[in-house]
Amino acid sequence: MEEKKVMLSGIQPSGDLHLGNYLGPLRHWPEMIEEFDCYFFLADLHTITVRQDPAQLRRRVLTQVAQYIACGLDPEKCTLFIQSHVPAHAQLGWVLDCYTMFGELSRMTQFKDKAAKQKENINAGLFTYPALMAADILLYQPDFVPVGEDQKQHVEICRDIAERFNGIYGEVFKIPAPHIPKVGARIMSLNDPSSKMSKSNLEGCVTLMDKPEDILRKFKRAVTDSDTERCVRFAPQEKPGVSNLIQIYAAVTGKSFEEIEEAFAGKGYGAFKPAVGEAVVETLRPIREETERLLADKAYLEGVYKAGAERASRVAEKTLRKVYKKVGFVPRG
Ligand code: TRP
Repeated sequence: MEEKKVMLSGIQPSGDLHLGNYLGPLRHWPEMIEEFDCYFFLADLHTITVRQDPAQLRRRVLTQVAQYIACGLDPEKCTLFIQSHVPAHAQLGWVLDCYTMFGELSRMTQFKDKAAKQKENINAGLFTYPALMAADILLYQPDFVPVGEDQKQHVEICRDIAERFNGIYGEVFKIPAPHIPKVGARIMSLNDPSSKMSKSNLEGCVTLMDKPEDILRKFKRAVTDSDTERCVRFAPQEKPGVSNLIQIYAAVTGKSFEEIEEAFAGKGYGAFKPAVGEAVVETLRPIREETERLLADKAYLEGVYKAGAERASRVAEKTLRKVYKKVGFVPRG
């Protein structure tokens, strides 16, 4: 039997999942688990580089485990786990800290951005974050790591670290390729179509747990464009607001842009906005209901992430043992 290629992806549970996450990568994961041997984990160790409220962090991680399953990630068919449950991440993270250069880390754009945003808390973890992320990846020897544009630099430094390590000790790590998913729409904020949908602007953001009335309100208030033609036409440069709504509508209904333009010809924005809102409500309804059902079933959820952590640990520990041996640590026996 041909071995499936290995794919790994980590998600930081630092905000509530929203429509942008869903229509971007998340929606395509169920297809990926058919094709690849997939590891998905909640990167909780990474979140504490920014101060978190403990109760909220705990609730978010559990909610997101439930949401991934509700979005169609069958935990029998992939390895779904919580990063802090697999100690090998922190252990390999430390080793890789020692093979990652101060200069390289200083050049990371995400570090520079985040440091500028939180001047009062430029902690060492924020700085060494890429080495931990490299450990996350390399432990599982994946063939590729699907990431957004903003994480590409992190996958590149991971490859550099892996190549450096392999250069000294031989072929320990597989060199992973970044994989910028071609499918998946880039969804913009509903009230500011010049920036990506993000939970830092709540009125422009539809979370997966929003109530239908909130979703409808947000779509009704969505910013459209101040052009004179006021017709539903896809033109991202001229008409970013309407084009964003068309993208969303296309993604949730499966209709093409042309079909949408035709259906709303002569109807203006007033009819279009609530139609998009309603279509989104119907897409998200089963996900929200299933998430709530799973969250009420603590025993099931615990079973899922426990089994996930066990499966992940077996693979991760094998890599870690190899690394420890290569660097010269005495085996505990
Ligand atoms: N840094 C990623 C983000 O902020 C999350 C992440 C942590 C990750 N470890 C990873 C992604 C390993 C891919 C692989 O989105």
